[in-house]
Amino acid sequence: MIAPDRPRRSALYLPASNARAIEKARTLPADVIILDLEDAVAPEAKVEARAAAVAAVREGGFGGREVAIRANGLDTEWGADDLAAIAQSGADAVLVPKVSSPTDIAACEAALQSAPPSMQLWAMIETCAVVGQLDAVAAMAKTTRLSLWIMGVNDLAKEMRAKLTPERTPFLPALTLAVCAARANGVAVLDGVCNEFRDLAVFRREAEQGLLWGFDGKSLIHPDQIAPCNEVFSPGEAELAQANSIIAAFALPENAGKGAIRVEGKMAELLHLEQAKRLVAIAQQIAALS
Ligand code: COA
Ligand code: MG
Repeated sequence: MIAPDRPRRSALYLPASNARAIEKARTLPADVIILDLEDAVAPEAKVEARAAAVAAVREGGFGGREVAIRANGLDTEWGADDLAAIAQSGADAVLVPKVSSPTDIAACEAALQSAPPSMQLWAMIETCAVVGQLDAVAAMAKTTRLSLWIMGVNDLAKEMRAKLTPERTPFLPALTLAVCAARANGVAVLDGVCNEFRDLAVFRREAEQGLLWGFDGKSLIHPDQIAPCNEVFSPGEAELAQANSIIAAFALPENAGKGAIRVEGKMAELLHLEQAKRLVAIAQQIAALS
């Protein structure tokens, strides 16, 4: 496993062709920065954007943030050169779009042969074709660099010809099946973007949906979305206090060897102890970030 369970509450996309946005990203409190070469970059600007992304990563200055570069698909005229350049960039991850099968993951893995072993492979889950193969694609994490998925709701809506409403009901089955497949295979999974970047109340409701549905965090398109997103995906005070109570209760001598105990009037089992420990560990890592 090359992807530790680290906080990935907020993952901000920016067009790698936008120098101002790259400069800003070095100071923004997003856990993950994604320099995009794909949909946010016009065909005429692709080659220049690739060079700018690689130069930005080499230059550094992103602090503790994870930095990924999103490549164009291997079926486009830019894909192979993107992967070759990203492999040597020192980025934490390469994000590949429109993955539809285990074969697609295998092709990306092969293209990254010369990349350092620490470089992760992240995949966009955004085609209709992948929905029937989620488990097989996630299982590729056992034998490749694959460690994280990001849902691409705009592309999924386009392919399904479904409407992207605030409730997101047409996408709920695909989103939750993706969460299950990712979890079953130890892959981290981030929710899709909310195109609404001026109305932060709409954004917050969507981020809360993502938390409820099990995502580790959310992908973002605008700096204003970072603060509410980090807040939604950070463990709350009450939740942390409860987790600490569960950990403390299981540590009591009278509870040694027990599988189920009473904590503050509720049942707590060993599975809750595990959840509590994970929550506390994530909270500690978040505290260390800020
Ligand atoms: N990352 C970093 N900085 C960003 C940013 C981003 N994604 N989006 C905007 N900014 C910066 C702007 O450069 C501007 O900086 P400045 O005022 O300090 O010079 C500031 O934030 C305010 O920007 P604003 O005027 O509100 O936005 P805009 O109208 O210029 O741009 C978008 C709106 C949607 C075009 C822009 O946010 C964007 O390109 N988002 C990312 C798109 C993307 O990557 N899509 C692919 C994945 S879905
Ligand atoms: Mg897409």
